[in-house]
Amino acid sequence: MSEIQITPVRQPKWSSVHSHIRGLGLDKNGKALRVADGMIGQTEAREAAGLVVEMVKQGRLGGKGVLIVGPSGTGKTAIAVAMARELGEDTPFVAINGSEVLAAENKTEFLMQAMRRAVGVRMRDEREVVTGVVTDLKYLKRTSPFYPYPVLGGAKVTLETRDDSGTFTVGPEVAQQFQELGIRKGDVIMIDVNTGEVRRLGRVKEKAAVSYDIDVTENVEIPSGRVRSRREIVRTLTLHDIDASIAAQRAAFTIFGFLREESAISDEVRSRTDELVKKLRDEGKAELVPGIMFIDDAHMLDIEAFSFLTKAMEGEFAPIIVLATNRGMTTVRGTDEVSPHGMPRDLLDRLLIITTKPYSEDEIREIIRVRAEEEEVELSDDALSALTKIGAERSLRYAVQLLQPAKLAAERRGSSRVEASDVEQVSKLFADLKTSIEYVEKYKDLLLH
Ligand SMILES: Nc1ncnc2c1ncn2[C@@H]1O[C@H](COP(=O)(O)OP(=O)(O)O)[C@@H](O)[C@H]1O
Ligand SMILES: [Mg+2]
Repeated sequence: MSEIQITPVRQPKWSSVHSHIRGLGLDKNGKALRVADGMIGQTEAREAAGLVVEMVKQGRLGGKGVLIVGPSGTGKTAIAVAMARELGEDTPFVAINGSEVLAAENKTEFLMQAMRRAVGVRMRDEREVVTGVVTDLKYLKRTSPFYPYPVLGGAKVTLETRDDSGTFTVGPEVAQQFQELGIRKGDVIMIDVNTGEVRRLGRVKEKAAVSYDIDVTENVEIPSGRVRSRREIVRTLTLHDIDASIAAQRAAFTIFGFLREESAISDEVRSRTDELVKKLRDEGKAELVPGIMFIDDAHMLDIEAFSFLTKAMEGEFAPIIVLATNRGMTTVRGTDEVSPHGMPRDLLDRLLIITTKPYSEDEIREIIRVRAEEEEVELSDDALSALTKIGAERSLRYAVQLLQPAKLAAERRGSSRVEASDVEQVSKLFADLKTSIEYVEKYKDLLLH
């Protein structure tokens, strides 16, 4: 067992268009607050999702999955993301699309890998780390021969504990994590010396910004001891991380061994992982963290994929499978059978169905307002109304996508605030999906096929 070196792979990043979502926004009794955790409206769906989260926490979802049904842009993905957030920061969230599965060379292998990426294993471990409060942080730029603009070359960071301090120059991989995590002076961080993985532990009490810090970062004490030291930490890996590192070690023994992330992993490797995880769990050194495997456009899956999923849901190490679709009655791909949402009955029997409804204009306005705040786009009242109108008439997603171009248009006028005219200008430049499809239809004969 000890010969297995596990290299942690970083948790998948939250899709940026859903970064404002911090949870389902429910009160203690599971009732949806109108606006909370970045979530607006969609009350019943959020409350239903809250019940699913509760069932997962109590281990009572057993063998069942979730299906979210609703028109496009009604927050199906947002709700799945919120469920993962409710389950905890280290809960894996894997999003795939039904058509990706269909296009995969080996459909079941693709699904299997996605499932194993969606199950976490939380482990206690002693690691060589540097830790402390950030007292200085400078990003280093460098020029690239392949790219005309300066790129991130690394960073120089100074860390202090109560007893020690040290300055470190780190490479671009680590510097990039600083940026993604929004590390700034006053944050307490920890860097794994062997893997370069960065964690933000919280903010130092006396340096914590007051009130308007909406994030839920805990205030923490300045660590004591040496900056560079061995410390016990808790890490969450995924089953796939462990599969990949076992497989990589195998590959190292073959002369031409060359393992790509996507390459198939043998059943034998997977059962070794399962045994290892069970053993660690029995010894109290690890616990399972079932995450969410989200399959969008699930009506695109075919009968082979559906059978695989139906069986997989029962497995001991299964994630919570959340499917989403905007289709009604349609043929199950690979059969002649017409069925609700294009899914076979035996699968539907195992799914808890949640529906999402189109938003009212007020809700659209509120969602755009929250997104604008998240993206640091200042909107005049008229601009917000213009975007709301676009959101209601065309699509919410399109309205949200116009925020950054509109901000740029405002900046070109020398203003930091977006006005209705900026919105109007960029909405003429960028097309929404409906328009782009009409365009292709209209010019069918002129465009290349
Ligand atoms: N109820 C909601 N509260 C806050 N943001 C939402 C809500 N519903 C959708 N959004 C945001 O609106 C955009 C479109 O929603 P999305 O989840 O992609 O819809 P769908 O998956 O149904 O097509 C995303 O940026 C999403 O985060
Ligand atoms: Mg979606």
